[in-house]
Amino acid sequence: DKGTYPYYMLKEIDEQPNVMRNLASLYTQESGRPNIDQDLINTMKQADRIYIVGAGTSYHAGLVGKKLFEKLTHVPTEVHVASEFAYDNPLLSDNPFFIFLSQSGETADSREVLVNVNAHDYKSLTITNVENSTLFREATYTLLLHAGPEISVASTKAYTAQIGVEAILAKALGEAKQQVIAEEFDIRQQLGLVATGMQAIIDEKDMIEDLAKKYFVPTSKAFYIGRGIDQTVSLESALKLKEISYVQAEGFASGELKHGTIALIEEGTPVVGIITQKRTANLTRSNLQETMSRGAQTFTIVRKGLAQDGDTIIIPDVDEMITPLLSVVPAQLIAYYTSLNKGLDVDRPRNLAKSVTVE
Ligand code: F6R
Repeated sequence: DKGTYPYYMLKEIDEQPNVMRNLASLYTQESGRPNIDQDLINTMKQADRIYIVGAGTSYHAGLVGKKLFEKLTHVPTEVHVASEFAYDNPLLSDNPFFIFLSQSGETADSREVLVNVNAHDYKSLTITNVENSTLFREATYTLLLHAGPEISVASTKAYTAQIGVEAILAKALGEAKQQVIAEEFDIRQQLGLVATGMQAIIDEKDMIEDLAKKYFVPTSKAFYIGRGIDQTVSLESALKLKEISYVQAEGFASGELKHGTIALIEEGTPVVGIITQKRTANLTRSNLQETMSRGAQTFTIVRKGLAQDGDTIIIPDVDEMITPLLSVVPAQLIAYYTSLNKGLDVDRPRNLAKSVTVE
């Protein structure tokens, strides 16, 4: 039931602060220690490489997961689009561990990979929102997102919940591997900050709607750019805009733009820079500047500690490892309000189904 909300998507965006609090209380103890099945951690400890598999938004959550696992556990981690992995026969390490990310737990592309993984007796974990779904039943281990049903075709709270679970899991594994950075990473406290931060962004939704109406409703194309973890969020941000507002949007590594794609920038093309990482903030700012001097209408989504005069949307400070949990929220809202103000069916975009059960 969507209650007083015009669309499920807005309801589901609004639920994200609570989803973060739920994850903190379900998967961490009051002391801050992770509360994750010890057997799962022991198995993961044996792995020399982690393979994350997903499609669409779940793939994008996997890209963030790679950063988390590599930072907090030092286990090399690969992320694969399910439909590619299934038929590409990728070379595996001696002792691989597979993580399947799937909101629905029914995505056929991901399941095809899991069938192969099981045929080889490799160990796997499914992180899903749906208990007893196919991927839930067929994996060795499972972790539920506990995000509540996601009805809108455009995935929002499942993405942030997947990242939340990955962060807790990476901390748990990192601690088991005695990584100091994992021991010092207070994920419980961070998820609390994230919940408050998400709410602060959602409270600015009227401002974001104005921006969407003025710059994104009239355009046929747009760009999100960033570096590192911000680049992964640019992909998810662009996907949201594409699927529900039909704006041809691209997420791009900001430094790579000048190697060709910048040719697409025209007078008024919206380009949003995502800036949450200290090391690369100034680089992305100069890449934005390059698009501006070619006529782009530029915007920024910036972490508070890195904000400057003239920034568009300022998101609260959280640990740089988990900024996607906040930086994606303005992009979700831009997509939502662009679709809404174009008079489209936000929850049921053309050509799409909520769960894709064909390969
Ligand atoms: C995007 C979206 C899709 C799904 C993808 C995988 O908003 O919803 O890209 O993320 O079809 O679905 P799941 O996560 O159910 O495997």
